Amino acid sequence: MRTDTGQVFRLEDYGPSDYLIPETDLTFQLDSADTRVEARLTVERRDGVAADRPLILDGDGLTLESLLVNGAPVAESDYEATADRLVLRSTPPAKRFELTLVTRTDPSANKALMGLYVSNGVFCTQCEAEGFRRITYFLDRPDVLSVYRVCLEADRKTAPLLLSNGNPTDSGELEHGRHFAVWHDPHPKPSYLFALVAGDLGAVHDTFTTASGRDVTLAIYVEHGKEARATYAMDALKRSMRWDEERFGREYDLDVFNIVAVSDFNMGAMENKGLNIFNDKYVLADPETATDMDFANIEAIIAHEYFHNWTGNRITCRDWFQLCLKEGLTVYRDHEFSADQRSRAVKRIAEVRTLRAHQFPEDQGPLAHPVRPRRYREINNFYTATVYEKGSEVVRMIRTLLGADKFRAGMDLYFERHDGQAVTIEDFVRCFEEVSGADLAQFALWYHQAGTPNITASGRYNGRAREFTLEIEQSVPPTPSEARKRLMHIPLAFGLVGSNGEDMTFDGADGATVEDGVIHVRKRKHVIRFKGIGARPVVSLNRGFSAPVTLSLEASAEDRMFLARHDNDLFSRWQALNTLFTEALIEATQRIRGGKEAAFPDELLAYPAEIASDETLGAAYRAQALTLPAEADIAREIGSSIDPDAIHAAISGLREAIGSQCAGTFGELHEALDSGETFTPDAASAGRRALRNVLLDYLSAGTGTPEHATRQFETADNMTAMAAALAVLAHQFPHSPQTAQALAQFEERYRGNPLVLDKWFMVQATTPGPDAVERVRGLMAHEAFSLANPNRVRALIGTFASANQTGFHRADGEGYRFLAETVLAIEKDNPQLAARLAIAFRSWRSLEKKRQEHAREALATISQAKELSRDLRDIVERTLA
Ligand code: PHE
Ligand code: ZN
Repeated sequence: MRTDTGQVFRLEDYGPSDYLIPETDLTFQLDSADTRVEARLTVERRDGVAADRPLILDGDGLTLESLLVNGAPVAESDYEATADRLVLRSTPPAKRFELTLVTRTDPSANKALMGLYVSNGVFCTQCEAEGFRRITYFLDRPDVLSVYRVCLEADRKTAPLLLSNGNPTDSGELEHGRHFAVWHDPHPKPSYLFALVAGDLGAVHDTFTTASGRDVTLAIYVEHGKEARATYAMDALKRSMRWDEERFGREYDLDVFNIVAVSDFNMGAMENKGLNIFNDKYVLADPETATDMDFANIEAIIAHEYFHNWTGNRITCRDWFQLCLKEGLTVYRDHEFSADQRSRAVKRIAEVRTLRAHQFPEDQGPLAHPVRPRRYREINNFYTATVYEKGSEVVRMIRTLLGADKFRAGMDLYFERHDGQAVTIEDFVRCFEEVSGADLAQFALWYHQAGTPNITASGRYNGRAREFTLEIEQSVPPTPSEARKRLMHIPLAFGLVGSNGEDMTFDGADGATVEDGVIHVRKRKHVIRFKGIGARPVVSLNRGFSAPVTLSLEASAEDRMFLARHDNDLFSRWQALNTLFTEALIEATQRIRGGKEAAFPDELLAYPAEIASDETLGAAYRAQALTLPAEADIAREIGSSIDPDAIHAAISGLREAIGSQCAGTFGELHEALDSGETFTPDAASAGRRALRNVLLDYLSAGTGTPEHATRQFETADNMTAMAAALAVLAHQFPHSPQTAQALAQFEERYRGNPLVLDKWFMVQATTPGPDAVERVRGLMAHEAFSLANPNRVRALIGTFASANQTGFHRADGEGYRFLAETVLAIEKDNPQLAARLAIAFRSWRSLEKKRQEHAREALATISQAKELSRDLRDIVERTLA
C-alpha cells in the first residue's frame, strides 16, 4: 500500500522530462505467483540536457533483479533502486542508449487491482493512472510516448489466449507446455495505455470495414459459457465505430480491436490501445439477467472506451491535470452517441439527473475542484464527476457557443494539429478560437474555476411599452482554496413562450448579447429588454440545460405548470414539472419537521394522470416526467440542516397521494403496457417498460398493498420488470411476507450469477429505515459477498452509503460508524476502492447538528488510523478541512 507522504503535485511545476523512451520492448514470463518482466528501453536524452543529469524512473513496490546499460552491467555506485524509483546517476555520452531491466512481481497477491493482477484465473493489467510503475521502472507519465513491442510467455493450457496492444506479429510453442505471442503497437502511446491479458476465455468474433475500406477483426472475450451475453456489446461496438466515422470523421487505425471482460475491476472500463479491458458488468447482458439500464450502460461505455481511441489515445494528455481533456470530451462524445441512438430529450434528462446527483454535491462540498485541477495529492481521486460530467458539459457549451459547423471544424483542427501529441486544455480551446475567431478567455473559466454558478432571474412585462424585461444575475459561490470568483460566460438557451404555447418573436433585445435563442450572461447582472412583445410571455430559461448552473427563476406555480404543458423544449417541460415537485416536497419537508401533516397542491396530484396517458409523448419521456425527485435531490435543494427522515416522509407522502389520486388511469395503463411482446433492448420498448415500472411504484403506494408488485414479480419475463417489482416490494413493503418470499426466490434463482445477485444486494442495501445498517452488516456474511470484489462492495456498501439516505444517515450515527469501519477494512487491500466509498461523507456539513457530529467522529476515526493510504488520507483530510 502506498502510504501518504504529504507530497502535493502542482500544475505550475510541470516541466518536460529530461529523457524520452521512444521504444519499449517487454517480455513477460507469466506465472501467477512469480512473473518475470524484462524491459528493454530505448532511452533518448532530450536536446540540451547534459549527460550527467540523472535518469529517474518511477516504480511502485518493485524489486530490481538486474540492470544493464547498453548491454553492460552498471556499477553499484552508479545507480540506486528502491521500491518506488530507479535513479541512474549519469547516462552514456551518446544521445540514445539502451536500458535493460528485470523485475519480478506476484500478480496473484495484487489486490489493489492496479498493475498486473489475476482476476478469476486470468492475468490482466490496469495501468491508468500510475499502474505501469508497478510492472517495471519507467517514465510513467502521459507525455512520454513509446512504441511497444510485447512478448508474452505463458502456460498453454491455462493461458491459451495471449493479448496485448496493437497487432499480433508472431506466436509459437516453447518448452514445458508453454507458448508465446508477440504484439506490436505502431502508435506511440503513454504507459497508462499499456495492457496485457492472458488466460482461458471464450469469445464472440466479428468484423468491421472502415469507411476507407480497411477490415478490422473484432473480438470480445468473456468467461466460457457467457459468449451469448456479449452479443449486445458487440453490436454496440460496431455502431460506435460507424458513428465516430459519420459524426467526427474518425476511423479505427489497427487491424484488430479486442475487448476483454474481467470480474475484478476498480472502474467501469479502460481504453488501452486496441485492447479495452472492461468490468464484466458493462459487457454481459441478456433479457433474463440484465435490465434496460444495464443495456444502456453497456452501449454507452463500449462507445466511451472506443471513442477514446481518438480522444485520449491518438491525442493524449500532457499531464494528469489535463485529465478532462480526454474524459470530459469523451463523455461528451458518448452522450451524443447515445442521444443519436435513443431519444435525445430523455437522454438529456438522464444526464442532468446524473450531473445534479453526483457533480453538484461535489462542487458544493469540501471536495470541489475545477474541471482542470491545479493540484492533487493522489490522482486516482480525480476521476470525478467534475472531471467527467462537468467536463462534458463544458464541451457541450462550446458547441452551443459556436454552433454545429464551427464546433466540428474546431474538432477537425484539433485532430489534425495534435494527432500523436500529449496536449493541454489550452491547446484544445485554442482550436475552437481559431476556427471561429471567438475569444474564449472568459468562457475558459469553466475549466479553471470550481463551483456551480447560481443564476437568479425574474421577468416583468410592460404592456404599454410592449416590452418584456428580464433581469439575470450570476454569482459563483466560494469553494475550498478559491474564495473569490471571477464572472463567468454562461450561455442560457431560452424562449419567451406565448399563450398559444409557441415562442414569441421580438424586435431586438438590449442589455446582453442575445443570439440564436441564447442569452450570453457575462456580467454580474444583465437587464435585458425584449421589444415588440404584444402580450405577457412566460419565460423558459436554460433550455436543454444549456449551462450547468443552479437556476432560481421567479415564477408562479401557474407559469411553471404552463411550461410543463406547453414549452416546445421537452427538457424544459420536464424541468418545469420537476421544479413544481421539488418546491412542493421542500414545503412538505418543512411541515413534517414542524410536526404537521404534508399537504400537496391539487393540480400536482392530478397532472400525473394527464401526462401518463399523453400519447403525443414517448413512453420513456413520460416515465422521466413521472419520476419524483430523489431524496438526495431534495436534500441538496434544502442545502443545510438536513433531516433525511423528514425528506423521506415527504416523498413517500407525495408518491402515495399521486398513486391514490391517479389510481384508475395508472392501473389501466400498467395493465395495457403489459403487451406480452418478446423482449428487445431498443429504446422504444425500454421506454414502455420504464413507464410501466414507474406506474407500479405509484400504484403500490396508492393502494398500500404489495399485490401489484407481487404479480409483476411473478409474471416477469425480463429482468427490467422483475428487478423493478422486487425494488417496490423491498422498499415499500419491507416487512411483508410477499417481500420475503420474492427475495428468497430471487436469491435461489440467481445464486450462481454474481452480477445478478448484485441487484439483490442493491435492493436490500437501499431499503429505507433505521434497520438498514444491520441488514447490510448481515448481508456482508452472505456467501456470495466479498470485500475483495469491487462490484460486490459497490452493490452492497456503496449503494447503502450513497443511495440510502435514511439508512446511512441514521440519527444515532451507526451508518457512519459502519462505513468508516468498512472503508478501513477495504483499504488494506484496495485503497482506491476504499477512497471512493469514503466520498459518501462529502456532504456531512449540510446535515442537521447531531448527525454532523456523528459524521465528524466517524471521519476522525479514519483519519486517526495508522498508515493510511495516500488515496484515503487525501479524501478524508479534504472532507474534514
Ligand atoms: N479511463 C477510464 C475511462 O474513463 C477510466 C479508468 C480510470 C479506468 C482509471 C481505470 C482506471 O474510460
Ligand atoms: Zn474515459
